[in-house]
Amino acid sequence: MCGIAASVGRHGAASRVKAALERLEYRGYDSAGIAARSADGGVAYARTVGGVASLGTAPDDPTTAAIGHTRWATHGGVTERNAHPLRDCTGRLFIAHNGIIENADILRTELVAAGHRLTSDVDSEVIVHLLEDALITAVSLAAALFAAAERLRGSWAVVALDTLTGEIAATAHGSPLIAAEAADGVYVASDVGAVTDRVTEFRVIDDDDVVVLDSAGIRWWGAGQSAPTPAARTVPRSHRSPVAGRHSDHMGNEIDEQPAVARSIVNSLAPRIAEGALWNDLALPPIETFERVVILGCGTSLHAGRAVGGVFSKLGRLPSRALVASECADAVWEPRTLVIALSQSGETADVLRAFEALPRTGITVLALTNNPMSTLARRADAVIDCLAGPEIGVAATKTFLAQVLTGVCVALSGLSTSPRLAPRVFAAQQRALHHAPAAIERALRVWGDIVPGLTNRFAEAPGFLFLGRGGGVVYAAEGALKLKELTYRWAEHQPAGELKHGPLALVGQGTPVFVVDDGDPRLDVSIAEVEARGGHVVRVSGPGPQTSPSRPSTSDALLLPAWGPLDAVVPLQMFARALALHLGHNVDRPRNLAKSVTVQ
Ligand code: F6R
Repeated sequence: MCGIAASVGRHGAASRVKAALERLEYRGYDSAGIAARSADGGVAYARTVGGVASLGTAPDDPTTAAIGHTRWATHGGVTERNAHPLRDCTGRLFIAHNGIIENADILRTELVAAGHRLTSDVDSEVIVHLLEDALITAVSLAAALFAAAERLRGSWAVVALDTLTGEIAATAHGSPLIAAEAADGVYVASDVGAVTDRVTEFRVIDDDDVVVLDSAGIRWWGAGQSAPTPAARTVPRSHRSPVAGRHSDHMGNEIDEQPAVARSIVNSLAPRIAEGALWNDLALPPIETFERVVILGCGTSLHAGRAVGGVFSKLGRLPSRALVASECADAVWEPRTLVIALSQSGETADVLRAFEALPRTGITVLALTNNPMSTLARRADAVIDCLAGPEIGVAATKTFLAQVLTGVCVALSGLSTSPRLAPRVFAAQQRALHHAPAAIERALRVWGDIVPGLTNRFAEAPGFLFLGRGGGVVYAAEGALKLKELTYRWAEHQPAGELKHGPLALVGQGTPVFVVDDGDPRLDVSIAEVEARGGHVVRVSGPGPQTSPSRPSTSDALLLPAWGPLDAVVPLQMFARALALHLGHNVDRPRNLAKSVTVQ
């Protein structure tokens, strides 16, 4: 969501923080700011609504300590006044904060009554004034930050700079923060991705720990006392540098990378599917332990989860249902449930809160994430990395594909030892899995020629419908979501059979209707209904506008991929991107959105 970076070193701290913020900016790009101190005590402070690049740093940057922030607005408008870092009344202290301070209104009232001048609309500002008060009596910045944090309710990752001493302290509670040491200085950041160009190892700042960064390095405080430094972790593959490609936007390159991502997942996981090897490697209880599977996630990850859930129910007759993580407060949890929590970031607050509300017994949680060092991964009973590599475009593309394929491998492995799955069906599903990378590659190639024509044809269309049946519905949903978030046009998905129960009223002359073809002949009826009303149908079935010749021509639905026509998502991603570019939008940073949604 928002990004935080801080650094202490001999010189160049503001420049290092700026570079780190640039790597985090895709997580939130409403405004940005840096506060820094030089060895001679000079202070530099800049905030902007113009993006991190517009924050100037001196060419021979003398700063030795700096904190910075890139913001996705929650409380308070997108203005310079509301940008972080935020300053105390004296101008000595600065803080940057991620998260939500739930008792900010009460604290603000108290602080104002005590004579503090608060100059922004943001909840975070109370922190710097609490710190200002705490520092009057505290023995150190760390102790003051600890005391200030004790007054807060909600979630926070905070870095604080004392410009009098050049010391930085940081603490976290329900919001991620890491610390790392590099050759050029020490760092704290909200995501290891901020510093993966400089470090190979990092340490997680656990809830309520405080760390201090000064010229001596990083010191650890646990519960307000000096504490041992936690073990270092290796930077995961999924956080290393993004792959360059033929497009100037990350999203285009990430779409292009999908055949390679699919191939690497299939190559590494498919050989471990049989005889439950992959399932056992994850230390999951035998599949017979479970009476149901619950999929937990948000947005694109939830769509991927639905595709995975379909494998358990379709092939294993194991009931599966998907829960929107932000809407499961009243869910009834039964024992013998396998929860698969999907989150590419592993830091989505809605997913983490849903996780916290799960009963302590009878439930096993498997995290499926692109960030095996994330909070979700650290808390789950088992974790699988979906191996997508870094995804910078805010709209999820290759992580969606990777989540589906990884989840499918896990599901097939679990079911492989179950008498519920006939060997003939298991073998057909394995074949379909091995075929997936080639199908995705062909979809990219074929639709590369078709998408530009569709973009011109539909450039003025105000709304779009996406239809599917069975396993195709999730890809229709994902196509509609991609189109909305990138083009800012209305897009709706429906199971095709529902069309006649209402949504058909939306179809008029030229209405674009994308139909995800999973081979169900009943789709022809829906298509005829649309065309009879003048709608313009685009049949999406992987390699081209006609039904895919690559799918098994069989009437036995169990021999078709139980996860549906995954390759159909490729043209839908390509079309959403192409139309957004045609409309002049930034496809990597759609308006109002952020990559990692760490607020509820
Ligand atoms: C859409 C998109 C979002 C995320 C959702 C959950 O392109 O990326 O819908 O899927 O915010 O995020 P994660 O997967 O990080 O939990």
